[in-house]
Amino acid sequence: MLTHIQLRDKFTMFWRARDHKEIPPIPLVPQNDPTTLFTGSGMQQLVPYLLGEPHPLGKRIYNIQPCFRSQDIEEVGDNRHTTFFEMMGNWSLGDYFKEEQLEWFWNFLTKEINLPKEKLYVTVFAGDKKNHLPPDTESIEIYKKLCVSENKIFKYGPKNNWWSRAGVPDNMPAGEPGGPDSEVFFECTQVVHDKKFGDKCHPNCNCGHFLEIGNSVFMQYKKTDKGFEELPKKNVDFGGGLERILAASNNDPDVFTTDIYTPIIKAVEKVSQRQYQEESDKEKMRVIADHLKAAALLIKASVFPANKERGYFLRRLLRRISVKMLKLKGTTVNATDLAPAVNAITEIYKDIYFNKSDTEKINPIVEEEINRFNKTLNNGLKILEKIEKPTGKQVFDLYQSYGFPKELTEELLKEKGLSFDKKEFDTEFEKHKNLSRTSSASMFKGGLADHSTQTIKYHTSTHLIHQALFDVLGNSVKQEGSNITGERLRFDFYSPIKPTYEQIKKAELIINKKIKESFPVSFKIIPRDEAYKIGARSFFREKYPEMVKVYFVGDYSKEFCGGPHVKNTSEIGQIKIFKFEKIGSNLYRIYAK
Ligand code: ALA
Repeated sequence: MLTHIQLRDKFTMFWRARDHKEIPPIPLVPQNDPTTLFTGSGMQQLVPYLLGEPHPLGKRIYNIQPCFRSQDIEEVGDNRHTTFFEMMGNWSLGDYFKEEQLEWFWNFLTKEINLPKEKLYVTVFAGDKKNHLPPDTESIEIYKKLCVSENKIFKYGPKNNWWSRAGVPDNMPAGEPGGPDSEVFFECTQVVHDKKFGDKCHPNCNCGHFLEIGNSVFMQYKKTDKGFEELPKKNVDFGGGLERILAASNNDPDVFTTDIYTPIIKAVEKVSQRQYQEESDKEKMRVIADHLKAAALLIKASVFPANKERGYFLRRLLRRISVKMLKLKGTTVNATDLAPAVNAITEIYKDIYFNKSDTEKINPIVEEEINRFNKTLNNGLKILEKIEKPTGKQVFDLYQSYGFPKELTEELLKEKGLSFDKKEFDTEFEKHKNLSRTSSASMFKGGLADHSTQTIKYHTSTHLIHQALFDVLGNSVKQEGSNITGERLRFDFYSPIKPTYEQIKKAELIINKKIKESFPVSFKIIPRDEAYKIGARSFFREKYPEMVKVYFVGDYSKEFCGGPHVKNTSEIGQIKIFKFEKIGSNLYRIYAK
């Protein structure tokens, strides 16, 4: 049986042997980008480079990126979906393309981790007439050369074989890169096709017979207002789920039986006094194991339970654990009993994502949230006991005010021979969902790289603000983050002393003076240590690779940055700081436009 450590090593050696440099993964919670809730793919940090900016480490890179996909929370429970996963990725930034990529990944699977060829299926892009995107016939030819038999090559449209951060071509905003992709699937012969999912099974069927284990995206297009145009260089963006490749290498379609989950499942078995082998308990144990792992990693990334944004997802994960535990055990779990499971998680990722003292940070937060929610659950149970003729609205209120899940209510009512009007519940639910969706949707949109002229101007302006704050407030200033939209820029910083109104005005004056001086903006790719030596401003929480890109605004500012920027500060025009506020202890926020 392959261990996750062995798989990591094999992957690393494989790409190193092909002249790839490792880029440090970015944090699970993107640090310098308050508009994106979580890191959901390896390419997230590479957008400027996929669009054509040169990368400091060259054209061939790889890494293993921890990812959290909050949108998959409801899907967890089957043998392959998880909210947290690690994406093994490799990239060609305008270097090799389809031929090398498909052959290399195929060799990695069949030669390095010895997956039997007959169990592998591949898919390619069938084209999208509406958007004038041609079918990918080259990949078919490449697979044939690799002796993949024709009945194992499947063609699908944009819904399955196109990748961009926004999904299908129609959903992409202007400026967003994307392209056709080719996926590899592992056939899990143990899982028999279920007709519920369609008459005939095929790689993208959801019955679980096929497990997607890797996706090579051919990033060669950029969406524009007029349709799709070719990027200056053709890129490869590959991502494969470490957990799934591990499961495939063990010839077991269940990712929860790999060594990256078994110690957690064992700990859950112990607290609940139930067995994973029991079919009826599997789903609950998987949810608990996945959610606890994701929660531990989010807490490590300094997310705390809250009612909105990141904290809301953490809260949801912990509450779902509490509910599943109730279902599994019959009574609510004493949250301190989960400590061995948390321990198992930190052990699995020891020296990868956790160190010894992390449990001291994680356990109290898990305990407080779960124990508090257990009270809610117990109160809800009491209310439910009194209801004699439940309505959909009542069940929704229970859900809305007590966080009491519909399925749980349904199950408990069923035990008493009662039911409720589900349509009524759904109507109430939809009303609520529409309210909350509008806010998170705009958040996602804002998270996509917008490379319009205005945002590029604002981007260079943040460098000027950063330096101007140092000039006015001294060296204890630290940038905490920034966020740019087409309408304004936002800049968060740490300062031990509250800046005065006059100081902020002075910074604004300096910025505009520098803009008027028409400084050229340029970059250099230099060793990280040299960049520190020349005093380039860095983002203190970020880990930087050995070679870094440093942007220079004349001789006024130097900063670690991927770009893009204006060519000359005179392009910016005028910058006005229109709001200044305190956002936390020693934390301040500036809005400017
Ligand atoms: N970026 C691609 C994905 O997430 C590889 O699937």
